[in-house]
Amino acid sequence: SRHDLLVVGSANADLVVGVDRRPGPGETVLGSDLVVHPGGKGANQAVAAARLGARTALLARVGDDAHGRLLRASQQEAGVDTGGVLVGGAPTGVALITVDPSGDNSIVVSPGANARLTPGDIRAAAPLLATARVVSVQLEIPLDTVAETARSLAPGTRLVLNPSPPAPLPDEVLAACDPLVVNEHEARFILGEGAGSTPESWARGLTALGPRSVVITLGADGALVSDTRGGDPVRVPSPRVDAVDTTGAGDAFTAALAWRLGLGEDLAEAAGYAVRVGAAAVTKEGAQASFPTAEEVAAL
Ligand code: RIB
Ligand code: NA
Repeated sequence: SRHDLLVVGSANADLVVGVDRRPGPGETVLGSDLVVHPGGKGANQAVAAARLGARTALLARVGDDAHGRLLRASQQEAGVDTGGVLVGGAPTGVALITVDPSGDNSIVVSPGANARLTPGDIRAAAPLLATARVVSVQLEIPLDTVAETARSLAPGTRLVLNPSPPAPLPDEVLAACDPLVVNEHEARFILGEGAGSTPESWARGLTALGPRSVVITLGADGALVSDTRGGDPVRVPSPRVDAVDTTGAGDAFTAALAWRLGLGEDLAEAAGYAVRVGAAAVTKEGAQASFPTAEEVAAL
């Protein structure tokens, strides 16, 4: 195959301000100088995989504007194939991000052009879909477009879905996931009442919904992986690092996981690599700017 990984997803300009604490309703706080970074869960994943050495392509939509050019440049600098990055229809997506002193973030996304990535765009990209070992999707693009992607996979192509931000998922999409990658928040959203309180219980509940495998990310505690092809769920610990900015760390984790699965690793092996990629990403500011090379992962 021509690509190890095809990411179908969003591209956003991240407008980032550091704050001592987040404002409540009706409140104003002063923050740091504004920084504009290339971001978006799809674009982040593509850059993360390419920086690790994966042959990567991105299928996305940006506006015909400065933010769109910033995003294309960051993809190309990382070595991503941008032949599938469509232009026009609305302004480039924007994420308004505050980062607090502990490195935690809060994000509001204005989807813009991401909302105009249609099922028709997926059908038109059939040749690109046919060249990838693994296809990775998230939910900052329309759900119909995600479903069309799941339906359009070539035989043997693996689908990785991170349902972020969370939304109700059709059965056909859940059944196609291998794995479904969620954090605690997304797991609880999908499972609703009766989710239980442990990652093991979330993994059991999510597996019952149809995916062939499930990965639950646990921040500093690493991940839990569960594969219907064998064995009990396995905990994968993360190296300890000092968090500076967690933005995009989940995207880096998922991209690394998807790439390693495509190389033939099993779920626990691939997650063992991915937690180190995610850990490296939280030690630096920004999303894409913080993603490690393979050499930096090896040194961790
Ligand atoms: O996952 C992090 C990303 O979420 C940011 O880059 C922002 O664009 C939002 O999409
Ligand atoms: Na970061």
